Amino acid sequence: MPDIVTLQGVCKTFHSADLETLALADIDLAVRQGEYLAISGPSGCGKSTLLSLLGLLDSPSSGSYRFQGREVSSLGRNEQARLRNQHIGFIFQSFNLIGSLNVEDNVALPLTYRDGMDKAEIRSRVREALESVGMTHRRQHFPSQLSGGQQQRVAVARAIVGRPSLLLADEPTGNLDSRSAESVMLLLRDLHAAGATICLVTHDPRACEWAARTVQMFDGHIVADDPSAAPRHWLQGAEVTA
Ligand SMILES: Nc1ncnc2c1ncn2[C@@H]1O[C@H](COP(=O)(O)OP(=O)(O)O)[C@@H](O)[C@H]1O
Ligand SMILES: [Mg+2]
Repeated sequence: MPDIVTLQGVCKTFHSADLETLALADIDLAVRQGEYLAISGPSGCGKSTLLSLLGLLDSPSSGSYRFQGREVSSLGRNEQARLRNQHIGFIFQSFNLIGSLNVEDNVALPLTYRDGMDKAEIRSRVREALESVGMTHRRQHFPSQLSGGQQQRVAVARAIVGRPSLLLADEPTGNLDSRSAESVMLLLRDLHAAGATICLVTHDPRACEWAARTVQMFDGHIVADDPSAAPRHWLQGAEVTA
């Protein structure tokens, strides 16, 4: 499978009044299409910064970032925005749904920014996305009328409604009870099985079990990356049959 994203020598520095923070230091990372990657490491080590760069929400201070083979820094702002809208889906820890819109309208939002998609097509895509996260029965509800787990399922529907090439999730279970967290993780597993490429940031070691590859970060660096690591649930299966 080809690389969907390729980072080479990427650094990210933040400047505030009298402080310079090197949030990412010389990051090399390639993610292939169809991979499920978990990124873990202590608070402040650069995980969210890395995900923001991957999702074109921010840009590197130096180094090269290629998305599907195209150097991102050579693209204009509009082109980057279009790439983000068409190819990238985000899931955040705090759901980030819009309180004044009902479930259907929240999920439809990314599609309304696309050119040439008519209302009927948007409706059918939204219905399909809500079905795949099991939230069809709450389509007229507003975010405040839903539990945290339900809100995150809606956020997953919003992230996948545009059929993105890359799904980015930043601590998606961080605000959820263990049961809701597990159901979101199962949802991501199913999306991956259906072909999605996923980068998941988490500090929950149990969440890492679902990913085929875990990248460990520390202090802005990637300190471990094992592309060949089998996820634990496969290993458990192997033990049973061995
Ligand atoms: N917008 C910003 N301005 C200044 N410093 C930032 C900004 N975003 C992140 N940082 C700093 O960069 C480092 C990495 O942050 P972050 O990527 O959020 O870590 P993580 O997600 O692993 O907890 C931290 O030291 C953080 O304080
Ligand atoms: Mg973070």
